[in-house]
Amino acid sequence: MCGIVGYIGPRNVKDVVIGGLAKLEYRGYDSAGIATLDNDKVSVVKSVGRLSNLEEKLERTPVGGHLGIGHTRWATHGRPSDENAHPHQDCSGRFAIIHNGIIENYLSLREELLAKGHQFKSETDTEVVAHLIEELYNGDLFATMVAVGKRIKGAYALVVMTKDEPDTIIAMRKASPLIIGLGDGENFIASDIPAVLEYTRRVYVLADGEMAVIHRNSVECFTLAGEAVSKDVLEVTWDAVAAERGGYDHFMLKEIHEQPKAIRDTLTGRIAPDYSRVVFGEELSWTPEFVRSVDRIHIVACGTSWHAGLVGKAVIEQLARIPVDVEIASEYRYRNPIQSENTLIVVISQSGETADTLAALRDAKARGRKVLAITNVVGSSAAREADDVLITRAGPEIAVASTKAYTTQLVVLYLLAVYFAQERGLLDDTLIRELLTGMAALPQAADQVLDTAPQLEQFAKDWSKVEDTFFIGRGVDYYLSLEGALKLKEISYIHAEAYAAGELKHGTLALITEGVPVIALVTQTDLYEKTLSNIKEVKARDAFVLGVTFVGDEALAKSVDQVIYLPKTMPLLSPIVTVIPLQLLAYYAAVARGNDVDKPRNLAKSVTVE
Ligand code: G6P
Repeated sequence: MCGIVGYIGPRNVKDVVIGGLAKLEYRGYDSAGIATLDNDKVSVVKSVGRLSNLEEKLERTPVGGHLGIGHTRWATHGRPSDENAHPHQDCSGRFAIIHNGIIENYLSLREELLAKGHQFKSETDTEVVAHLIEELYNGDLFATMVAVGKRIKGAYALVVMTKDEPDTIIAMRKASPLIIGLGDGENFIASDIPAVLEYTRRVYVLADGEMAVIHRNSVECFTLAGEAVSKDVLEVTWDAVAAERGGYDHFMLKEIHEQPKAIRDTLTGRIAPDYSRVVFGEELSWTPEFVRSVDRIHIVACGTSWHAGLVGKAVIEQLARIPVDVEIASEYRYRNPIQSENTLIVVISQSGETADTLAALRDAKARGRKVLAITNVVGSSAAREADDVLITRAGPEIAVASTKAYTTQLVVLYLLAVYFAQERGLLDDTLIRELLTGMAALPQAADQVLDTAPQLEQFAKDWSKVEDTFFIGRGVDYYLSLEGALKLKEISYIHAEAYAAGELKHGTLALITEGVPVIALVTQTDLYEKTLSNIKEVKARDAFVLGVTFVGDEALAKSVDQVIYLPKTMPLLSPIVTVIPLQLLAYYAAVARGNDVDKPRNLAKSVTVE
């Protein structure tokens, strides 16, 4: 994710930049840095760790001037370190840039720039842009940045300054957010409004594909191609706390809405442009022999991450035909698990710090197994200790109830399943293309499914007084039921049970009485008729059934009381869109019951004790 701040004007530039970054620390906090233009010289100070580390360093190495840019980092390419912290510079030190996003073609640009003699200091994708600017600079930073925009691919919010143009900062945006705060004789740049609210409530929100040229006394906006655009000023009326949540009432709701972007970021650069294969490149150290030799996978995780693992099992087994066991970390480690030489251990952990998951990871390593970590935090213990790491690029998740971490874990597991299948020669080209184009369409589908919010809000209000609910489904819908029930329990405190739809009649059906809400997931085409029979079983006991199915399924409405329609995806990929209404349902139920949504009772975001 990362947080960006820029300032030009008469105030103490360090105070404005550091104060703004403090408001954006929720966007990432593994390292931070600042560049200022002071007496014709670009000064850069950076430090790994929290913002306070940078502040301490700045006491020893003060910076001044009237123009500056700063960054808090949430690592995606390159571990958290002083060198990888932003701002990054070119070889001459004339330019400084900060970046939020992913430059997809950085490897080819890096090779090109290395061949021209540029010297790199970091492992980041961002640094290529600094050298590219140096390479293309012709005395006009604006024209240079238009040219840079034509060369770089991916997602970015980029902010650049140079000692050669002391009254200019340029900001450009593609997919990652940027706003310009408008002052009197001063202007501000930030990833998000809270960073500037102390100074101004008048902002331009840069649209996707726009850039801004910011001087002390003016701001001009353009398309990335350099054509002028006129912008409306947004007058911000939120208070500072609400602004940090992007105007949403709770972090959880904000994070639910961030899922289309988080999914897109997690896919970025991992699918070949012609959709012919999954590319992990340098992310995995695996040899082709190793990939072929894996004869069993143990997925180990806790909570929501464990639920993601269950979906992973279904997808990996179906596509790659490798048997997968999904284990609760606190059980696995005490069970003396049977692992063959060729068992791959996959630990899934949003935080990368869950004690039970880490213990399982360490135990597996001690037994000589190869461990892959799927985590959201680059510098976490899981990321550092595993042999290989695939990062979910969800950005920091603040709400205790996990949402965007789960969907991005699913994305990585899908990619992994296709990767194993393609490398082991199990899928024909047409099916790989169908799967990968289907995955590339998931951000849009996730966006569409957010439209179900008003219907779920009403449903949650109507049913917020109930004490028991049931979630049923077959195949991956059963695994989604488990996640839907957990979400509802943890934040609304309504008792919820998830059942494999066919298993209900073996005992739990006794609990179904008049008006008990049953959420029935029916996205698996091949199991449709069977699930429908199970719905009839609960309807016959007068349950109130909320069905969840794909748009175009007219039949289900005849058998249930209400239907939530999902945008059409391949049934195998449906969990990504199915889970979002379940998250919304839990959210609105918790709100209706007046609960503290982001900090539910008795629970913690990261459980670092056994
Ligand atoms: C806690 C959180 C859950 C999370 C689980 C595992 O219980 O409240 O939301 O799923 O830990 O966390 P991890 O960081 O390992 O994914």
